[in-house]
Amino acid sequence: MKAIQLRETDGIESLQYEDVPRPEPRQDEYLVRVHAVGINPLDWLICRGMLPHLIDSDLPWIPGWDVSGVIESVGTNATAFTRGDTVYGMSRLPDGGGTFAEYTTMSGDEITDKPDTLSHSEAAAVPMGGQTAFHALYEAAKLDADERVLVHAAAGGVGHMAVQFATNTGAHVIGTASGRNKTFLRKLGVDEFVNYRKERFENVLDDVDVVLDTIGGDVLKRSVDVVQPGGVVVTLPESPSQETVKRYQDEHDVTVRFFDVIRDSEPVTLRQVAAQINAGVVAPSVSDVYGFSEIQNALSRSANGHVRGKLVVTLMEMIDKRGFEHRANQNMQPTDDIH
Ligand SMILES: NC(=O)c1ccc[n+]([C@@H]2O[C@H](COP(=O)([O-])OP(=O)(O)OC[C@H]3O[C@@H](n4cnc5c(N)ncnc54)[C@H](OP(=O)(O)O)[C@@H]3O)[C@@H](O)[C@H]2O)c1
Repeated sequence: MKAIQLRETDGIESLQYEDVPRPEPRQDEYLVRVHAVGINPLDWLICRGMLPHLIDSDLPWIPGWDVSGVIESVGTNATAFTRGDTVYGMSRLPDGGGTFAEYTTMSGDEITDKPDTLSHSEAAAVPMGGQTAFHALYEAAKLDADERVLVHAAAGGVGHMAVQFATNTGAHVIGTASGRNKTFLRKLGVDEFVNYRKERFENVLDDVDVVLDTIGGDVLKRSVDVVQPGGVVVTLPESPSQETVKRYQDEHDVTVRFFDVIRDSEPVTLRQVAAQINAGVVAPSVSDVYGFSEIQNALSRSANGHVRGKLVVTLMEMIDKRGFEHRANQNMQPTDDIH
C-alpha cells in the first residue's frame, strides 16, 4: 500500500510517499481502508521532532491520528464492526499513529460509526479536535449552563468545536480570533467576539468562569487575570510548572489545569461527540481538502497557525487517479468526497 512515512524528525520535508506492507489487524483490531485524514498541529510538531515520546517505534514511521474510512477486514476477536461499515476515530496515543496510509489498523475503542450526515472528509475533521474540546470543557473545567467561558483561537480545530459544545450547554461564550473570523464565530454561537489583533482581551473582559487556552505562554498568564476567584483555566499547548499552578491558585484563587488528550482521552468521549453530531447540534467545519500527495502543503499551512476549522487530506484522489480506467471500465461511481 501507499503511505506517507517520516524518515527523520527534522521537519515536514522528511515525509516520504512510499510503498509499505499493508498492516494486519491483531485479534481485537480492524483493518480500516482510509478515506480521509484530519490534520492536527500534533502532526507537524512530531515531524519537527518536538514530541519524540509519541513515536513509539523506530523510523521510518507512519504518522497521523484522525481518520474516517471503511472496515476492510476484521480481527478474529473483534465483534463491534463488520466489513463495509463506515467508521471514524482517532488512533491511540501515544503508541498509535499510522493513518497517513491507504490502510491502518485500529481497535474498537478507537472508532465509532461515521454519522451518515457527514462525508468522510468532514468526519475525519472531528476526532482529536472534538474530543479535546469536549474533555477540556466538561472533564477538566466542569462547564455549566450560564457560566461565562472564554475560548481562545475559537476559530481553530479545537476552538470551533468548543464554541458549539459550550453554546449547546447554555454558557455565555466569548471567542478570540482575528477579524476575518468574526462572522464565522457568530454563526457558531459566540456571544462576544474579541479581535486579538485589535484589542487585548484582558482590557475588555472580566468575571470569566472558564478559559480554554489554546495558545499558552503570555495568553495563559493574561487569561488568569480575567477569571473570577474559583474559576478554571484549561490550557492545551504545554504543561505549566507546579510552581506556576500553585502561584495562580494562591494569588488569584484560579485553578490552572493542563489537558492532555494523550493521557486523558477516553473512548467514550468520541461517542459523546458523535451523539451531538448525530443530533445535528454540532458540525465540523472543513476549510480545505488536500490530496494525499499534497500532505506536506496541508501540514505547512497548519503550522502557519491560521486555519479556520480543519484541514483534511483525502486518499480518494490517489485511488481515483490510479483506478480511473479500471472504474470507468467497470462503470463504478467515484467515492471521492471533496467539497
Ligand atoms: N494538550 C492536548 O491534548 C492538545 C490536543 C489538541 C490540540 N492541542 C494544542 O492546542 C492548540 C490549538 O490546537 P488547534 O488544533 O485548535 O489549532 P489550530 O486549528 O491550528 O488553530 C488555528 C487557529 O488559531 C487562531 N489563532 C492563532 N493565533 C491566535 C491568537 N493569538 N489568538 C487567538 N486565536 C489565534 C487562528 O485564528 P486567526 O486566523 O483568526 O488568527 C486559527 O483559526 C495547539 O497548540 C495544539 O497543539 C493540545
